[in-house]
Amino acid sequence: MICIGGIGLLESCSSSNYYAQNTISNNRITLKKSEFVQVKTDGNIQRNYVLIKIDKYKYPLCIYKLDESNYSALLMRCSHKGCELNPQGDFLVCPCHGSEFSNKGVVQNPPAEQNLTIFTTTSDNENIYILL
Ligand code: FES
Repeated sequence: MICIGGIGLLESCSSSNYYAQNTISNNRITLKKSEFVQVKTDGNIQRNYVLIKIDKYKYPLCIYKLDESNYSALLMRCSHKGCELNPQGDFLVCPCHGSEFSNKGVVQNPPAEQNLTIFTTTSDNENIYILL
């Protein structure tokens, strides 16, 4: 398996970033929970997170699945000096000076001192809703 910068060169790379399909209406993003399911020939697997890119923000949003009904939606802008973060498992890591954030947007390692921008999320049986 070869992974460079979180982008998988082979299909089996589990850290590859996936941009989820979504719709936006009245400052609310809707995405299906099924976007967290990766269909593979040898069985489905669950993604820890998906990414969303919308016109309103220069940076993508990272949506983490915390459990079946709880999700976190984080702007991937480092609170230190604004570099775009890289998801690595349950953490977001800054390539510029090494800050790390949890999957809830909380600073884990400096030099960043402030948490990430966090969006309110709700969900029902089928969808996840992110309020912008
Ligand atoms: Fe992210 Fe400095 S910009 S640690």
